[in-house]
Amino acid sequence: MNQRFTLNVNGKEHTVEADPDMPLLYALRNDIGLNNPHFGCGLAQCGACTVHLDGQPIRSCVTPMSAVGAGKVVTLSGLGTPDKPHPLQAAYVAEEVPQCGYCINGWIMTAAAFLETNKKPSDGEIKQALSGLKCRCGTHLAILRAVKRAAEMTG
Ligand code: FES
Ligand code: FES
Repeated sequence: MNQRFTLNVNGKEHTVEADPDMPLLYALRNDIGLNNPHFGCGLAQCGACTVHLDGQPIRSCVTPMSAVGAGKVVTLSGLGTPDKPHPLQAAYVAEEVPQCGYCINGWIMTAAAFLETNKKPSDGEIKQALSGLKCRCGTHLAILRAVKRAAEMTG
């Protein structure tokens, strides 16, 4: 049975009527209209749906509405703006990372949370932190360069 949820997303509150078992991703895309988190596998395997919940990267395709509570959700569009991009967003542009772009959301959201915990990561630490993500276009080396560039900008 549907319940009413109040979600705090990118600093704004949204009311959503949904089944408690519905994935958060569906509410973000279909009810709130945020299309930056993508549906990839739907099985927590690719990371395309990643958002932050209270600063932690989560896979919104397998996070039920009932698990969100009063937590603060941040999506890719909440990280920065075109005028004031997050360092990772700026680095992605500078390194010309995207090919099709479908995976970008997962890499940036995961890397953003990682860089909050490790300001000067080694290549190995970056690879380890991002090991659960997929890019079918093979942009991995460019992603590594972008994360290193962002770390230099923020570290
Ligand atoms: S769509 Fe969520 S991990 Fe693939
Ligand atoms: S840029 Fe196409 S899937 Fe990563």
